[in-house]
Amino acid sequence: MYHATLVRILADGKFYSGATLGARLGISRTAVWNHIQALARYQLDIHAVRGKGYRLASPIELLDRRIILDRLEDLSCAISPELDVLFDVDSTNRYLLEKSKVMTSGHAVCLAEYQYSGRGRWGRTWVSPFGSNLYCSLLWRSSLALSALSCLGLVVGVAVARALSEIGLTDHRLKWPNDLIWQGKKLAGILIEATGEVSGPVSVVIGVGVNVNMSMSAARDIDQPWVNLSEAVNRKVSRNTLSALMIANIFNTLLQFETQGFDGFREEWHAIDLLKNKSVVLRVGEENVNGYALGVDHQGALLVRFDSGEVKRYFSGEVSVRYGV
Ligand code: BTN
Repeated sequence: MYHATLVRILADGKFYSGATLGARLGISRTAVWNHIQALARYQLDIHAVRGKGYRLASPIELLDRRIILDRLEDLSCAISPELDVLFDVDSTNRYLLEKSKVMTSGHAVCLAEYQYSGRGRWGRTWVSPFGSNLYCSLLWRSSLALSALSCLGLVVGVAVARALSEIGLTDHRLKWPNDLIWQGKKLAGILIEATGEVSGPVSVVIGVGVNVNMSMSAARDIDQPWVNLSEAVNRKVSRNTLSALMIANIFNTLLQFETQGFDGFREEWHAIDLLKNKSVVLRVGEENVNGYALGVDHQGALLVRFDSGEVKRYFSGEVSVRYGV
């Protein structure tokens, strides 16, 4: 509670004395010092200067629920979700999966400044430093059966690509099934977790993480090439604007998917497919297989042609491009 208030005061990057902060929070200067120390867990860079007080090394634009809701209205988002904007959480996906058990109808969105246990695909950790990236999850209730959702990840990839185009990004690619890549580096990832009956309506939690303004030090544990959106568009990006664009594009694209199926997206997907017509190596379970990517079929499966001429369809796996082949 004190942490969130402190960060909100310090967000403008100006100096605040211990006495001023204490008065604003109704606590002693020593207590302010203790809380400032505790903010270290968010890896926030706070300068403490004798005679001046405390300030953030650089100002941050915090997420603002009101601004995001207003933008969603301007963007004609076809769905009005319940929106939770959290200071910190283990994982926005986990939060919404839990919420879906008590909120039995309607759509919801959760955004957070910080995830202390952000989830990536294949059980990996998604590095989620404070206030610098986008951590966004959407709870979507679909009238489609679980079996019809095999290509949902690809559809969400198209939605994320659309949102990024609207923010001014060009030349981004989708790497099957749903990584967003810019100049060979990962810009955004998608993690979909579904609950519900196999035949009945499903609740799906769609998690999107976008690197926006992450520092090198926060990213030291990332073991693959990555890039920030601010670098890719060569300007500062407002996370509030990006949040609204992301939410509106994902919900509107999902509604399009419900009426058109994946057929309505295949052409758009192929236009930004990173792997199409490339030699690839696909990791399936413990095995690596080499082949040639032909694009995706009407169900979103990856089509791979082998030297023997045989073409196989893959619904899951990790792929990378084979260079110099
Ligand atoms: C990937 O591995 O590429 C998927 C990353 C997905 C990260 C997002 S951040 C918001 C949401 N909450 C999580 O815990 N994970 C997803």
